[in-house]
Order: sequence, then structure tokens, then C-alpha cells
Amino acid sequence: MAVLCLLLSLSVAHALLLDVDQVKLPQYHTYGKRLVLAGGHLDENNNEIYNTIVKLAGGENYAKIGIVTAGSADPADSCNYYSDLFLHRYKAQSVYCIPIDVNHTSNNFNDDVVDKIKQQTGFFFGGGDQQRIIDSLPLFQYYVLLAHISVPAMREITGLFDAGAVIAGSSTGTACQSSAVMIRGGMSWDALRYGAFKSENKDHPDDLIYNNNGGLRMLHGFILDTHFSQRGREGRLIRLLSDTRHLYNGVDWGIGVDENTALVIRHAGTSQAEGEIIGENGVFFADVSNSHVDNSTKYFNIDNVMVHYLTHGDKIFLQNKTIKFSRTKTQMKGHENYDHALTTQDIFGGNRRHPTQKSEFTRVATSIFDSRLETSSYGDTYENNPRFRVTMSRAVAGAEGFVERKHSFHTDITSYRNLYVKIDFSP
Ligand SMILES: *[C@@H]1O[C@H](CO)[C@@H](O)[C@H](O)[C@H]1NC(C)=O
Ligand SMILES: *[C@@H]1O[C@H](CO)[C@@H](O)[C@H](O)[C@H]1NC(C)=O
Ligand SMILES: *[C@@H]1O[C@H](CO)[C@@H](O)[C@H](O)[C@H]1NC(C)=O
Repeated sequence: MAVLCLLLSLSVAHALLLDVDQVKLPQYHTYGKRLVLAGGHLDENNNEIYNTIVKLAGGENYAKIGIVTAGSADPADSCNYYSDLFLHRYKAQSVYCIPIDVNHTSNNFNDDVVDKIKQQTGFFFGGGDQQRIIDSLPLFQYYVLLAHISVPAMREITGLFDAGAVIAGSSTGTACQSSAVMIRGGMSWDALRYGAFKSENKDHPDDLIYNNNGGLRMLHGFILDTHFSQRGREGRLIRLLSDTRHLYNGVDWGIGVDENTALVIRHAGTSQAEGEIIGENGVFFADVSNSHVDNSTKYFNIDNVMVHYLTHGDKIFLQNKTIKFSRTKTQMKGHENYDHALTTQDIFGGNRRHPTQKSEFTRVATSIFDSRLETSSYGDTYENNPRFRVTMSRAVAGAEGFVERKHSFHTDITSYRNLYVKIDFSP
């Protein structure tokens, strides 16, 4: 009986809310639905990214930012940090720490909390552990016979997103926004060696694990990963795409956002949806739609993966994947700076060896476009047994590199599209 009353009252509430949700925020008419997906290590001085979030939430002295720190191990402390930044430094009109986390899930149904959520013009999801966000903010409440209703807090946040409130996140706050399978953790070599798992194994802390139910369902069609080049996550993203593409929430495309960088998506959910890269580094796109896996060999191998790497000012239409390089960049073909491409002994080493330089994967990939004599190169994994080899080639249709020259190879702002990738192992 209690359940029935709850069901009835919530569905009446839902019906009323649907009307309210039809009212679009003013900024909806310029940009449609929009997201700002940052890759973690977001510097508090990164004016470009923070100002973009505030602008897309309606602008200075207008933006009302709801902050979700349910991913954090210390949600209150994390929210204080972001509140202070948005309010005092980036001139939001107001901030609201949404008091929902793994220890406060009843607030998902709290009228005062839901009322405050309704007043926001944008939401920022902080870092930590993406599974904590999913556990804290369920989309649905399930009842007997799998009857389900949406949970008020996320229903409001989703409704506001549809009405034009920006959804922004960094690190975990980005990784949790997909409707596709959600990556939870793992290292590239371990992913290639052992594959993707649905649950953690305490004896294998570096295993690739994922949630096959997906994330908060704000962005469709892509797996989202973060801290990307810096932690050499190319291998784990490609393996997760390959292992899950045939599942219900599987997809062929993955996006890896670098640290202190963001992918800004406007007109999300429409055929016009367009992503633009802002911030310091780049955004990696992997496409396994034409890839091939040979299951007859001892270890994992895959070929015909296509990858793209976009940097500041570059844009991509998310539906047909058309890429437009920034006008500040010029084609590298015919203007290469080197004879030979580079190789590496630690292809997934990220930039742990040289924190101020391009990551290992990016270094090899961009050197191929900057080489006069070679059209392909490779990098091996540092780990052996087996040692995996990543071979990359620009000798395929549509491959091109673009660059904004600075002072050196490591400071040049370089982008490329249609780089062919093959991963196999040394026998
Ligand atoms: C939730 O409560 C437990 C037990 O008090 C505590 O150990 C944990 O840190 C809390 N988690 C968060 C995210 O606040
Ligand atoms: C891709 O989609 C965009 C947005 O709909 C459109 O403007 C553009 O012409 C398309 N490009 C191609 C090559 O189809
Ligand atoms: C290879 O294995 C993958 C993952 O288990 C599977 O989806 C795929 O169908 C297999 N391919 C062949 C040719 O057997």
C-alpha cells in the first residue's frame, strides 16, 4: 500500500514536472543542450574552461551552479573548493552544494533539495570515483515486477539539462556522463593482457573494470575517459570499446579527454551536435567500427582502429564525425620538420617520465605526421610477458596532421585525424 501511494504520488508529481520542464532557459536558444567535459587536473587558473562553464550557465552574475561532489571521498570539502572558485573567482551569481552522496541518498527524495536543484542554471560534477556518483544519484527506483520510476533529484537535473542548463564535469565528473558503458578503472597494459571485467578483483587492482549499465546518460554514443594522454589510457579505451561493442550499452567510439582540457559540446542530442576543444592539451577519439580482432592468437590483438587527436580550437560534429581543424593551424604535409618518426619503449607511459612534454603515445603519433621520410612508426609497452606493440600509420585515406608551430616539437600544438592503429604482441 505504501509503495502504491508512493508510486501514485510520484507519478502525479512527474506529470506536473513535465510541464515545467518544457520552459527553456534563455541560453537554450543559442546553444541547445550543452556539456563541458574536462579531463581532470583542472587548474583553478584555467580561466578559459571555468569562464566557459559560467558563460554556458547563463553568464557572470546570472549563473547558478549546482555542485555535485558525490564522487569525492570528502564531498563537503570538495564542494567548498568549487563553491569558492565559482562564486568568488568566476562570478557565478550563486552556488549550491547538492547534499547527496553515498551516505545521504535519502536527499534524492527531499523536497527542499529538489526545489533548490530546480533553481540552478548549470551543474558541475567534481572528481573522485565515478561509481560513487552512480551509487549516490540513481536515475530510477525499481519496484516489484521491475516497475520503475525516475528518482526526483536526477529527474530534475536531466530535465534542466534538456531545458538548457549546462552539465559540466572534470575527471570522474566527466567519465560518469555517458549512456554507454562506463569505464571505472584500470591500466592499459593490464587491459590488453587480461581484458575488461564487470567487477573488481582485489588481487588485480590494475584490471580494466567497467559498469555495463552506463553512466548518467547525458551523452550518447561514446565511452568517456579522462586524464587521458597523461596516464597513457589509449590501450584501455580501445580494449574496452572492443570488448563491449556488442553489448546492449556498447558503442564503437570512445573519447579520452586530457588533463586541464575540455570538450565543449553544443546542441547535444541533435544532428548538429558539435564538440570543440578548449584548454591546454587535447582530446583523443578512438573508432573501432571497422576494427578486427583475431581470437585465434594467445593474447589480444586488434587492427584497423582509427584514432583522431584534436587540440585547442578544433571541432568535431559528433553525429557524422566530421572534423574541422582550427584556423590557427596549418597542414603538416609538405612542411614536416623532421626526417624520421619517433618510437618509444613505454607507449602507455603517459607523461610520467617527462611531465612537461607530450605524452609517449602523442609523441610517437604526432612525429609520424612531422616526418618527411616515414609514414608509420610504433611503440612497445614497458611491461612484458607479453610485450604489446602499437603500430601506427598515416598511409591510409584521410590521414592528416595539422599544427600551430610554437618553439619546439613539444610545444607545437598538433592535431591529427585518421591515424590507423594496430595492437599486437611480441611472440
Ligand atoms: C560514508 O560513511 C562511512 C561510514 O561513516 C565513511 O567511512 C565514509 O567515508 C563516508 N563516505 C563519504 C563519501 O562521505
Ligand atoms: C556533418 O554534420 C553537420 C551538422 O549536421 C553538417 O553541417 C555537415 O555538412 C556534415 N558533414 C558531412 C561531410 O556530411
Ligand atoms: C572474438 O572475441 C570477441 C570478444 O570475445 C567476440 O565479440 C568476437 O565475436 C570474436 N570474433 C570472432 C571472429 O570469433
